Amino acid sequence: MSGSISIPEQGISKRERYESLMPQIHALVEGEADLIANVSNIMSALKFGMDFFWVGVYFVKDDELVLGPFQGPVACVRIKKGKGVCGTCWEKAETIIVPDVELFPGHIACNAASRSEIVVPLSRKNVVAGVLDVDSDSLAAFDETDAKYLGAISELIGSML
Ligand code: SME
Repeated sequence: MSGSISIPEQGISKRERYESLMPQIHALVEGEADLIANVSNIMSALKFGMDFFWVGVYFVKDDELVLGPFQGPVACVRIKKGKGVCGTCWEKAETIIVPDVELFPGHIACNAASRSEIVVPLSRKNVVAGVLDVDSDSLAAFDETDAKYLGAISELIGSML
C-alpha cells in the first residue's frame, strides 16, 4: 500500500492512539512480503504515531541479537543473550517493562537520554527470533497497555519471520 499514515491527534489516550494506529499498520504491510521493508515501515509508524524516543527490533543471529530496522538515535548493534533488557527478554521469552533503566541491573545504555524501556519478544514457531524494543526519555512511560499493543505488533512481525 502507499506509504502514508494518519498521525493520531494530541490529547487522546494511549489506548486510543494504538487503536488508531493498529489498522493502519496492518494496511501498511498488507500485500508486501519483504520483511525489512515491512518492519521499517512499522517502526516509522510507531515512532511518529506514538511519539516514541526510540523504537526498533533486534533479530537473533547465531548467538547474538543484531540490530534491525529502527527509528531514533543510533544504537548498540550486538547484544548477547542474558545481557541488558533485550538479552534478558530473549532469555526469559517474556515482555519486560523497566520503569527506571538505572535500576535494571546490566541495562545497556545506548543513549544517555533513555529513562524507561519496554522489550517484547518476537517469536517464530514459539522460539524467540528477536525482540521489539522501545525506549522513552521519560521515567515509567510504559505499562500494560503498551505490553498489549506492542505484543500484537510483535505477533504481526512474528508472522512474517
Ligand atoms: N537498553 C537496551 C539496549 C538497546 S537500546 O535501548 C536501543 C538493553 O538494555 O538491552
